[in-house]
Amino acid sequence: MVEVLEESELLRRNVICIKKQFLSTTCVKKIHWQSNLLHELYSSSSNRSMLVQKLLLENTVNHPLVKKFPPKLSYQLAFLKDIITKLERHGQEVLEALYIVYCSLLSGPTIDSSCHYRHFVIDHSVTITIRESSKLISQGTTGLCSWQAALTLADWCLCNCELLRNRRILELGSGTGLTGLCVSLHCKPSSYWFSDCHPAVLSMLQSNIMLNVTGQNKHVLGDSHEDNSVVTHTCSGDENVSLACDGHEWTELCDRSQILLWKMCNNAEIGVLNLPWEIIPTSDFVTWLSPEVILAADLVYDLSLFPVLSQAFSHLLHKRSCVLFLACTVRNEETLDAFIQLLRTMNLEATEENLSPPSVLYYSTDVPGKLYRVSAIR
Ligand SMILES: C[S@@+](CC[C@H](N)C(=O)[O-])C[C@H]1O[C@@H](n2cnc3c(N)ncnc32)[C@H](O)[C@@H]1O
Repeated sequence: MVEVLEESELLRRNVICIKKQFLSTTCVKKIHWQSNLLHELYSSSSNRSMLVQKLLLENTVNHPLVKKFPPKLSYQLAFLKDIITKLERHGQEVLEALYIVYCSLLSGPTIDSSCHYRHFVIDHSVTITIRESSKLISQGTTGLCSWQAALTLADWCLCNCELLRNRRILELGSGTGLTGLCVSLHCKPSSYWFSDCHPAVLSMLQSNIMLNVTGQNKHVLGDSHEDNSVVTHTCSGDENVSLACDGHEWTELCDRSQILLWKMCNNAEIGVLNLPWEIIPTSDFVTWLSPEVILAADLVYDLSLFPVLSQAFSHLLHKRSCVLFLACTVRNEETLDAFIQLLRTMNLEATEENLSPPSVLYYSTDVPGKLYRVSAIR
């Protein structure tokens, strides 16, 4: 009996491992299949293989979260094709439902193919759902999809929650919001301010935050989830943000169009700012926010942005005691070195943090990533 339970527990864990990789759309060729699971899939007992195939289907393409918030259609097809090919190559009977789902996806309507969803399972109670563009660059911006550095930074934060707990955090260039949602929903900061400057990015960022903090994706997962939010304000145009903080009206402190969303969630303040790096040195609101930790992922890619980005860093780090964590993908070593050198000329020190292999989240590390702790030299 004990052995049977252990066997089914092992199968459950192995299937969950595939589910996590599928939901976050890990490249099909890079999906890590546990040898035990493959052994059961190719099992000489047809019943056992059918059971495994059924479980895989239920936890991937037929998962309720996938039905409601689908990953890229081409990804789903490639995943199914990979399983079918594996089985056929081993002369194993293929579950009819696998063929049926594959054919129905092939012939079905392609809904909103310009965007797709990815789901990042952090633990049994937190899954982050991100809607993003299917193109790396669209509407003239890189901010409509999640980049590897966002995953690197999110994974590092999830493993170093103690540095972020009860901290006031500001994120620069948040893009789709992946890093910030992982941190704000899992690491218990006292406040988390997302920011960006591109209108389409800001709009996608806000809808991703609402999707996750209101638990729309959790109801699909079947979790018992309560919306812990206390207050939400979404602001547009000239709408007045009338929130009183420490005796100040925020409208006194900032341009009204700067705060786009403000929400309390699990006792943490979550907000979205329209914050071009250019205005950081003159923003009273940023001074008032007084962040203790600043997060930034994949912002070092365009030489023409270096002056404004480094000045923003310098202003934030010299004005107050805080630390900045900058995650980069090393596409070009020279470009990255040039930025780190520029920071030195501004009396900012960038030291490299040890990056462990992906731990909570799944992502490719084919292109190396680096994480810097940047602080003011005093
Ligand atoms: C490569 S994307 C990275 C997005 C996200 N951090 C990630 O890693 O997935 C760069 C982001 O910086 C934002 N950005 C670029 N120039 C900016 C500026 N001057 N002020 C504020 N944000 C800017 C873009 O809109 C975009 O969202």
